[in-house]
Amino acid sequence: MANDLSPPTGEALERAPSQHLGPEYKSPDERPQATVSKSVTQANVHILPQTPQLIALLTMIRDKNTNRGDFIFYSNRINRLLVEEALNHLPVLPHTITTPLGRTYSGVKFEGKICGVSIMRAGEAMEQALRECCRSVRIGKILIQRDEETSKPRLFYDKLPEDISERWVLLLDPMLATGGSALMAVDVLRSKGVPEEHILFLNLIASPEGAANFAQKYPKLRIVTAFVDQGLDEKNYIVPGLGDFGDRFYTL
Ligand code: PRP
Ligand code: URA
Repeated sequence: MANDLSPPTGEALERAPSQHLGPEYKSPDERPQATVSKSVTQANVHILPQTPQLIALLTMIRDKNTNRGDFIFYSNRINRLLVEEALNHLPVLPHTITTPLGRTYSGVKFEGKICGVSIMRAGEAMEQALRECCRSVRIGKILIQRDEETSKPRLFYDKLPEDISERWVLLLDPMLATGGSALMAVDVLRSKGVPEEHILFLNLIASPEGAANFAQKYPKLRIVTAFVDQGLDEKNYIVPGLGDFGDRFYTL
């Protein structure tokens, strides 16, 4: 039970802001208002642009009446946006090519090797989007489960590419609540020699508390998230949130 010294939970939390959604060329009275992501002060947290598309997709997966098929379909679409944005954070090198017209074009090409690492079970739901964008990408697994009573994470298993210390790592988990699970996963990656600044954490919904915990421990690691929500409830669930992601994606 929350006591007077506990952080505010549930309805006591400050609401996320509301704003008119695009397109910009329409007047404000033609543009519906919706709740958008909270902004955060941590420079390592990158929040996707709050477009009408993204907000519509999030509205679908937050809705308790959305069935499992739709939940999978619409969360996959957000995962694609997250992967595309995360890839923008990877270094590229100048690369000039010749087109079929014999003209040159000054472009860029990807530099360096990547791999995905999913935090099982829910993080595995983000693997499809990564595979769609990065053909035959290597994917490691870390099995961490949050204790239902204490919210503390427990590490059971990890299986990672041998050369992971030479790769950029896209760490996958849709829910960042207290941050305990993802921080434990980063500890595993660090113990294998992955530099903090070579880890990108892809996340669908974050709590402000989780984002702050992360930034404090790993300020050089980048978080790419679709939305920072209001906060955590008494059971450390994200509110308003979407419930238990793993249950909704796999079993409900
Ligand atoms: C969920 C979620 C995160 C974790 C977030 O997983 O996918 O891994 O909880 O909570 P935290 O930030 O407070 O650690 P869970 O352990 O419930 O397992 P699941 O993936 O099997 O649903
Ligand atoms: N795990 C989830 O799936 N949802 C939450 O809100 C918190 C942890």
